[in-house]
Amino acid sequence: MRTSRISGFYKLSAEKRLETVRDFAGLNEEELKVLGDTGSLGEIANRMIENVVGSMPLPIGIAVNFVINGKDYLIPMAIEEPSVVAAASNAAKMAREKGGFQTSSTESIMIGQIQLTNVSDPASAKLTIIASKRRILNLANKDHSTLMNLGGGAKDLEVRVIDTTAGPMVIVHLLVNVKDAMGANAVNTMAEAVAPFIEQLTGGKVNLRIISNLATQRLARARAVFAMDAIGGEEVVDRIVSAYLFARSDPYRCATHNKGIMNGIDAVVIATGNDFRAIEAGAHSYASITGEYLPLTRWEKNRDHDLVGTIELPLAVGIVGGATTVHPTAKTNLGILGVKTANELAEIIAAVGLAQNFAALHALATEGIQRGHMSLHARNVAIAAGAKGEMIDRVVEVLVREKRVRIDRAKEVLEEMI
Ligand code: MEV
Repeated sequence: MRTSRISGFYKLSAEKRLETVRDFAGLNEEELKVLGDTGSLGEIANRMIENVVGSMPLPIGIAVNFVINGKDYLIPMAIEEPSVVAAASNAAKMAREKGGFQTSSTESIMIGQIQLTNVSDPASAKLTIIASKRRILNLANKDHSTLMNLGGGAKDLEVRVIDTTAGPMVIVHLLVNVKDAMGANAVNTMAEAVAPFIEQLTGGKVNLRIISNLATQRLARARAVFAMDAIGGEEVVDRIVSAYLFARSDPYRCATHNKGIMNGIDAVVIATGNDFRAIEAGAHSYASITGEYLPLTRWEKNRDHDLVGTIELPLAVGIVGGATTVHPTAKTNLGILGVKTANELAEIIAAVGLAQNFAALHALATEGIQRGHMSLHARNVAIAAGAKGEMIDRVVEVLVREKRVRIDRAKEVLEEMI
């Protein structure tokens, strides 16, 4: 009987684990080789997470043409979806005419949350905590001399009383400047360190002590002007603004609008070894912070009838710590970007998100998304149908011409060819 109850799986070598999976799932030699290949990660894979058996490579494409704050960047993007890298590069080319992207960002302030329950007098507890702010911040910073020396550390705190179905809770926010790190480790350690003192102060009971991914004090912004003539005329400008207004008023469209933005954002986040789940959580919660789910970008027409796009979102990305410093490919990608601070990286990512959104809206508002997608998609379909070498292009040509990009048709075409 196959069982998933395997005691001590974590103690086995990666090879032995792989063999166990092979026996369970009936993998063949080829599958075993593909799964077990850790590529440039090598032994590091085994140290990054638990129960490692292999790795999952993604292509890295370089987005070209980006000018951000007057500086040229080549931007590595790790993503499985065709067209994203080409679209970002195209958008960046169109933005160049008016100077590319202008960006800014706040300091790298992350929020650590401490949940206090069983507080009989929450309003008074709030004031007691605020009155002890200095002591709490000192306690938080006690074991973080490196961060403090860089000018970071716990800087402030806020106290909120929230209503829940189990009565009021007192929520303490520790505001920590994490400088060039993503910050989860430092913030979580600090939240845990101050919790007992806060319990003592208030007589309440601490439950959770954890970072918030809704990083409202760690925002990155980007702006770009797309010249009317460079993007196909005033009608295209109007159509893009109308597409944006559609997203503003309809959550069904807004989800897809924001998804397109995240195509670009996640690809750079992943390429630089950052936590894309944190970025996704932050982006979508920020998009709904007013209670309505809204686009992360805005599109307007300026006095010259050009299109102006802006984006603002939380971007908790780091250039030190975590996978950014142990993953060899992430390190190389950071090197290609040449970023000196986490802020610079966040701003680049914001610019890519804006470019990606422009590219999607431009395609949707003009020829539609499918034509550009079609030939890349057709390549994947042709390969999946078994085409090799020059056969691939020949199958693609037929599928695109017939507008029938389907595996059954690809197989037929391939059979006719051989
Ligand atoms: C596809 O991955 C992304 C788009 O659907 C985004 C959009 O509709 O704005 C093209």
